[in-house]
Amino acid sequence: MSIERLTELVRDRQPCVVLTGAGVSTESGVPDFRSREGIWAQYDPMEYATIDAFLADPVKVWDFYGKRLHLLRDAEPNDGHRALAELEERGWVRAVITQNVDRLHERAGSRALVEVHGSIRTSSCLDCGAVVPFDEVVRRLENASAPMCTCGRILKPDVVMFGELLAEAAIARASQLAAEARLMLVVGSTLEVYPVAGLPLETLATGGSLAIVNRGSTPFDDRAALTIDGGAGETLRALAVSLPARR
Ligand code: APR
Ligand code: ZN
Repeated sequence: MSIERLTELVRDRQPCVVLTGAGVSTESGVPDFRSREGIWAQYDPMEYATIDAFLADPVKVWDFYGKRLHLLRDAEPNDGHRALAELEERGWVRAVITQNVDRLHERAGSRALVEVHGSIRTSSCLDCGAVVPFDEVVRRLENASAPMCTCGRILKPDVVMFGELLAEAAIARASQLAAEARLMLVVGSTLEVYPVAGLPLETLATGGSLAIVNRGSTPFDDRAALTIDGGAGETLRALAVSLPARR
């Protein structure tokens, strides 16, 4: 029943934009943040994920991010990521807006992708502006507690930390996609972190609809045309199976 309804919504309410959160990557072995066994159950985000914490003690923050980079180095895209890339290819998904920094959408083949919280793809130097790619950062972490820039300063991962502004271009593009969408499909997010959690409101404000696939509730469930309390991978795979090539 719910897959048929989701298929109908995607088919009839174009363009469709997808907003993903950490729940789309858990099936790749990447923990999310707010589930019971999520990252914030083990680490206090105020100690490890704010720009102030990083500036005060970058080595401590890298102790957290170093573990994440090693985990993300070994993670592979899952059925959910691949299904979204296929749906984009067939013309059913205009773009994916993701809160995730794990590169899995890109590695699954998504092209129209807005990474609103940045990405671990690079780390940068706040002093000299050097930009260092992921693999080189992981290499520099092998025998150091934090990756150093050649100028001597500790590098910062190019992810948006709490207390930092989102990249203007990214949030502007995401906002435009949300406003133009006739359907926003949210997958694997608690929709608790602004400004990204405000994007569904932009779709609703211009008369668009909301569909939510998430294990657990979100503050937007009562405004959604459809909510599916199910797995991201299996639901997106079933959606891709039911939507033939469009172009
Ligand atoms: N299928 C469907 N839903 C899932 C799955 C799955 N396989 N695995 C987890 N979920 C759900 C969880 O139940 C939870 O409701 O995905 C949601 C993930 O929510 P969060 O952990 O809050 O992640 P997210 O919404 O992406 O967090 C937003 O917060 O800490 C910051 O920067 C961080 O980008 C992150 C932002
Ligand atoms: Zn430098």
